[in-house]
Amino acid sequence: MKKIFSGIQPSGTLTIGNYLGAIQQFVQLQEDHECYFCIVDEHAITVPQDRLALRKNIRSLAALYIASGIDPNKATLFIQSEVPAHAELGWMLQSISYMGELERMTQFKDKAKGKEAIPSALFTYPALMAADILLYQTNIVPVGEDQKQHLELTRTLAERFNKRFNDIFTIPEVRIPKVGARIMSLQDPTKKMSKSDTNQKGFISMLDTPKQIEKKIKSAITDSEGIVKFDKENKPGVSNLLTIHSIFSNESIEDLELRYADEGYGQFKQGVANAVLQVIEPIQEKYNALLDSEELDDILDAGQQKAEALANKTLKKAKKAMGLGRVRK
Ligand code: TYM
Repeated sequence: MKKIFSGIQPSGTLTIGNYLGAIQQFVQLQEDHECYFCIVDEHAITVPQDRLALRKNIRSLAALYIASGIDPNKATLFIQSEVPAHAELGWMLQSISYMGELERMTQFKDKAKGKEAIPSALFTYPALMAADILLYQTNIVPVGEDQKQHLELTRTLAERFNKRFNDIFTIPEVRIPKVGARIMSLQDPTKKMSKSDTNQKGFISMLDTPKQIEKKIKSAITDSEGIVKFDKENKPGVSNLLTIHSIFSNESIEDLELRYADEGYGQFKQGVANAVLQVIEPIQEKYNALLDSEELDDILDAGQQKAEALANKTLKKAKKAMGLGRVRK
């Protein structure tokens, strides 16, 4: 069975961008793959975090994974910092990463832009991400479009390690969904929807109330044409809403264009909100039941044990290949 690994940062509440670009794929893939899904808290600290907020976000993300359909009987769900092999292999992979290739990462450039004090971990982050993936001998990594460059670097590092030391790592492939790989901000449809956006109106969180969701969709930036048509170039706002509607209601964009052909943006936006709420409301119900439950801790304990066993196996081989530690006489 092919192995899947993917991770989400607990750096804020999950947005519908994360849900559509990542979680939805995970839920499908768990049916016929060996899946490892991770709450990558060590990635979150590459930018300053409030200690209590981080703790809260880690648990919240775990509950959201399950509430969104990740089945702990089919997939392994765990917290990155509870499996120390990630940080260890991350360090080892830093030793074979080049400054030049890390400097080319657009996500680093975006996040570091204009800042005076840039944490060095923000720069070396892709080596840790490569470690996450390579520890599980992953075949496929389902992610949204913004992670493609990091995946290419992961492949490069795996190939470099295998060539320089020993053939230890499986070379992973990236899997990006055909639609929903890049959900845009509701306030600036030329920018990616992001959970760390300072403008709350730009994103829909999976935990927003129905009222907030309706309000945010109603105030989404569109255009003055008044025609519901998919045209990414000239109508990025409407196209983004069409994409969101289409995936949430499982209808094609063409069908939706027909349905709203004689309607204004008001009706269309109400339709988008209804489609989103239909999926999100049951998820929120499950989330609320799980959040403070012992069941959630049991799931994360079991996930930690299973992930650690596999990760340590790979780590041991990689250390040996690099000549770390000693051989008993
Ligand atoms: P993160 O936490 O920023 O995002 C989690 C997942 O959601 C996808 N995503 C989106 N998809 C569509 N539209 C959007 N607007 C949108 N925003 C985010 C991301 O592509 C991602 O799949 N570096 C990663 C976390 C990570 C990881 C890994 C992923 C750490 N180690 C190993 C895969 C494998 C990140 O910051 O994702």
